[in-house]
Amino acid sequence: MTIDDASTVHAGRPLTPDFIDHAWRPLASATRRDDGFIDVTWPDGATFPAYSLWLAENAEGYGLESRTRESTLEPRDLPAPDSITAASVDADGALVLDWADGRRSRVHPGWLRHVAEGRHLPAAVLPEPVMWTGSDFSEPPTLDGSNILDDDAVLEEWLATLVRYGLCRLTNTPTDPDFVGRLVGHVGPIRDTNFGLVWSVQAKPDPDSTAYTGLDLGQHTDLPTREVPPGFQFLHCIENTVQGGWSRMSDGWAVAEAIREEHPDAYEALTTLDWVFCNRAKDAEHRWVGPMIDHGSRHQPLTLRAFYPVRSAPHMAPADMPRAYEAMRVFATMARDPRFQLVYPFRPGDLVGFDNRRILHGRDAFESAGSRHLRGTYADHDDLYSRLRVLRRGMHS
Ligand code: OGA
Ligand code: ZN
Repeated sequence: MTIDDASTVHAGRPLTPDFIDHAWRPLASATRRDDGFIDVTWPDGATFPAYSLWLAENAEGYGLESRTRESTLEPRDLPAPDSITAASVDADGALVLDWADGRRSRVHPGWLRHVAEGRHLPAAVLPEPVMWTGSDFSEPPTLDGSNILDDDAVLEEWLATLVRYGLCRLTNTPTDPDFVGRLVGHVGPIRDTNFGLVWSVQAKPDPDSTAYTGLDLGQHTDLPTREVPPGFQFLHCIENTVQGGWSRMSDGWAVAEAIREEHPDAYEALTTLDWVFCNRAKDAEHRWVGPMIDHGSRHQPLTLRAFYPVRSAPHMAPADMPRAYEAMRVFATMARDPRFQLVYPFRPGDLVGFDNRRILHGRDAFESAGSRHLRGTYADHDDLYSRLRVLRRGMHS
């Protein structure tokens, strides 16, 4: 072999447009078509039509920049779709492309397989969400959290359970007021809000939110006043000597599906009629408008907008208001039905994470004798999912 043999110069594993250590999946064949596609096949019969311009953007030696693994090709600089003059399979199974301008690229066949199988899609590496009701669990799915900051296997299981069920409790965590911030900061960036990065839930003499009283809190999601409410919420019990104050969780996804089946008129009202939400803070004024069961647009997850203390007004024709209120009554009644709801005590050292857009949470009223102190924080879906994908690299490449 000589140095001017381009396939020898780049004989190492070609870089991929990501930082995933893809398994090497040698190709069986590569066939150039007249319409700008390269058909690749693998020995197990899998096939994939790779478009020439997408290959140009992502191939090492063409668009792919080696440090950033991003494409540097501005679309106006893309070559003509027929500028691949030959496609072949190298001795090691890599895709080899010859370009009209004389360049030669080697493309990682494991990366092609990863895309062919849809494993580059946002949901691919994450667990499939599983709907649950009160008959599936009597308590939240629970893990021992005593070692979570030092053991990535526990962290991975916690995050995976949060994605699967939208709910996972850790027990035996330190009753340190800073622990929840440390743990969620270890997962990724904390989602800051007007409550601050980490906040306390405690009954206060001069409360500025229903949360800071000893009142019962019906099943709800936090911050429906935002265009994008926080994806996950974490509540950590530091101290609890009160009577009452038990936690309640229900899977809002299951509640919404049951309403769709059993109360189709209410479902229609809950998914189409808008409400204005606004917080009543002295120094903040967040406002958003949307239905209580918000399926969003294409690719957006279900978002439940359910917190009556910050629901400000119906935004609908007056004729729709009676059925909108009736539908909310159905929603709130189903959300508290034992058929859907888990009820359990909050013990010091318990740290409960939940999907704040899917899971409905609430608490029983508690007496003013004694003290109950929770520390809470939020994170966006994106950052928790990102951490889980990185933890899973290598397992699913
Ligand atoms: C809240 C809340 C739960 C609890 O503050 O929004 O839901 O158990 N608190 O106090
Ligand atoms: Zn809440």
